[in-house]
Amino acid sequence: MINKVAIVTGGSRGIGRGIVLALAARGWGVTVNYRGNAAAAQETADLVTEAGSEALIVQADIGAAEDRDRLVQATLDRFGRIDLLVNNAGMAPRVRTDILQTGEESYDEVMAVNLKGPFFLTQRVANAMIELGKAGDVDRPAIVNIGSISAYTSSPNRGEYCISKAGMGMMTALFADRLAEYGINVYEVRPGIIETDMTSAVTEKYNKMIDEGLTPIRRWGHPDDVARAVVALAEGALPFSTGEIINVDGGFHLRRL
Ligand SMILES: NC(=O)c1ccc[n+]([C@@H]2O[C@H](COP(=O)([O-])OP(=O)(O)OC[C@H]3O[C@@H](n4cnc5c(N)ncnc54)[C@H](OP(=O)(O)O)[C@@H]3O)[C@@H](O)[C@H]2O)c1
Repeated sequence: MINKVAIVTGGSRGIGRGIVLALAARGWGVTVNYRGNAAAAQETADLVTEAGSEALIVQADIGAAEDRDRLVQATLDRFGRIDLLVNNAGMAPRVRTDILQTGEESYDEVMAVNLKGPFFLTQRVANAMIELGKAGDVDRPAIVNIGSISAYTSSPNRGEYCISKAGMGMMTALFADRLAEYGINVYEVRPGIIETDMTSAVTEKYNKMIDEGLTPIRRWGHPDDVARAVVALAEGALPFSTGEIINVDGGFHLRRL
């Protein structure tokens, strides 16, 4: 028996899987989106079923317009409602390249997946939420964007990623402003260094930096750390806040002396 329904983009692995499982444990039905790794999506969906909830797997490239439409339509066809959109799917550049050499292909791909896709998916889902709200089918739906400390932290060897996440910061503000009148709060959860496949190539580098005190809380973050924040927001823990950024980064963002 499900209560509410969420779309979690990139819900198959990593942080997205953590969010899916935390929502499922609290009775949410979830659309688990992925791009290429079907096995991971199936594994996540099986875990949702084990938790007593319902999962719909939808393969869709968030960077492609027709895929985004299919994702939303499939969710509405299956569940008849969308109470939460989590814009989590994201990618690092396929190859880290100094900004003096960044290629246009990598720039375009990262921006399409990390910023343009989430922008137009949010637009599509927001319009659906407005209609569902008017019909009384959903009550105070919400949108949560998964940003990054890269929104304000310079990494010149993956500049296109940083720019995409900085853009997402404004995207959060824009939709928060526009959707408040419809009772739709919009938030951004900004993870720091989280242990997933995305960071597996730089484990040694980050181990050393964390050991040396990079973050006041000296450990890696885990998908569940991010998921807890998303669940709190999704369940209305901050009803009089919108456009808010929740840092889930072990204190990385603090200026220290
Ligand atoms: N890990 C960190 O330290 C960290 C820190 C700050 C922010 N973030 C952000 O958190 C989010 C999740 O990161 P993660 O570390 O969990 O990454 P991850 O382990 O690499 O997982 C990425 C997920 O996104 C999906 N995905 C990638 N491109 C997609 C596309 N075009 N369309 C649909 N799905 C797509 C993947 O599906 P497939 O498996 O099918 O490819 C997978 O489910 C990202 O937005 C990332 O920028 C991560």
